[in-house]
Amino acid sequence: MAKFHPDLINKEFWYKDITLIPNRLPDFERDKVDLTTHFTKRLKLKTPFISSPMDTVTEAEMAILMALLGGIGVIHYNFLTIDEQIEEVEKVKRFEAGFVFNPVVLSPKNTIGDVYNVADKYGFFSVPITEDGTLNSKLSGIVTHRDIRYRKDMETKLKEVMTPREKLIVAKKSETVDKNNLQAANEILRKNNLDTLIIVDEDNKVAALVADSDIRKNEQFPLATKDENKQLRVFSAVESRLKLAKERIGKGYDAGLDGIIIDASVVFKEQLEIAKYCKENFPELEVVLGNVDSAEMVRKIIEEASDYCDALRIGIGPGAACITQQELGTGRAQASAVWECGEAIKKLEPKYGFIPTIADGGIKIPDTIGQDVAKPGDITKALALGAQTVMMGSLLAGLDESPGEKEFDYEENRMVKKYRGMGSTEAMEKRGALRYGIEKVKIRIPEGKVIKVPYRGSGYDFIPQLIAGVKQSLQKQGFKNIKELQEEADIRPLPK
Ligand code: XMP
Repeated sequence: MAKFHPDLINKEFWYKDITLIPNRLPDFERDKVDLTTHFTKRLKLKTPFISSPMDTVTEAEMAILMALLGGIGVIHYNFLTIDEQIEEVEKVKRFEAGFVFNPVVLSPKNTIGDVYNVADKYGFFSVPITEDGTLNSKLSGIVTHRDIRYRKDMETKLKEVMTPREKLIVAKKSETVDKNNLQAANEILRKNNLDTLIIVDEDNKVAALVADSDIRKNEQFPLATKDENKQLRVFSAVESRLKLAKERIGKGYDAGLDGIIIDASVVFKEQLEIAKYCKENFPELEVVLGNVDSAEMVRKIIEEASDYCDALRIGIGPGAACITQQELGTGRAQASAVWECGEAIKKLEPKYGFIPTIADGGIKIPDTIGQDVAKPGDITKALALGAQTVMMGSLLAGLDESPGEKEFDYEENRMVKKYRGMGSTEAMEKRGALRYGIEKVKIRIPEGKVIKVPYRGSGYDFIPQLIAGVKQSLQKQGFKNIKELQEEADIRPLPK
């Protein structure tokens, strides 16, 4: 068990109020540190990072980045329709795959412009062409990037440019998909130097496809968080309202979703019903509840719903765009919440089993203008205090992969991106105020604000720095993994 300094007992403290004392003599390099952890009861991650379900943080592009680098993204639900959220889930699931089972198809009557629209929406150009443009009709050919890359005539029909069926090399479903033999499909793809291999059934209908770019991506990102079919994993947020959540869960499940986070600033009783509904009807989905911040809340949830809860999200109002603590006098210092909730779970573990915790919000990087380097000490502290993963909003909102454009800020003399709390008036106005459970009330009390965060460039540079930083701080303390850190960290108060 971690050494927890007596001066911290029953005290409120933030990450900045504590430090971790190294007591070992490290005899290994940073690269030997393994950050594998539990995100939920069943799902492990190689990187303990989760991107917040916020509309200035996580849509498909962020979720893809997070999953490729070993973490996971949670798609927000602040869209005008449920289908828009589901489209983002689909983009992640289609991004990188073994067998792509529901490929986008077009008909010979569609145009080159339609292929460009597919590319804009999903990021790929290879499209099988079927007789009527659905998966129910026979394969007529394929259009790939090579066929249209120099074409400007957007109205030209695809039958003019496609490679017709008789010239296509295809694989048989019985020899690939039916035997779950991705290897066989990859070999055909490579031997014939194809961009995309279509797999057909005995009626010449498209059963699946395999893409060469996916094989290369698989090799490039060894930490990636993937499901059994080698598709990236993704979670989505659902509201704490049973009726709406049911529709979201059903549609998300059909799109290949891996789990849900029932999103509320403070856990609602109705969440437990949603969790039960989800587990009973979609047992494959993982369910995360929250947010909580005290041992008492943890105990109540676990006693009532331990079978329906695969992880708990900890933190009420510590986030960079939160004003719940200031406005409503509700919430507490995040580091003490993470510690207390983690300890409460440990006490309940013999009876109810292990439930991982997510330290949500309040992870900061010292931000000196012009010196935005990743200093990931807060993350290591959250893990040392007992969290299995950390959830981040403001830290990721400045990346290229977050929604929204970067702009030059003349006051600060640097590039910035907008970041807004989901309880801010601006975010609530977008589509009701369901996260905050007050949509039917005419008076809205904002619980979040809109701020600017420094533009941090590509997440493909930034996240690896953050990973290396967390590894380095474990290495400094002589710990090879998160379990060792949690068992032996020496947590002390810093003088005020
Ligand atoms: P950071 O500090 O990483 O925090 O930016 C992200 C977390 O903040 C929470 N969140 C809110 N909390 N009012 C709140 O009190 C809000 O408007 C709000 N919006 C997001 C959320 O838990 C997120 O993961």
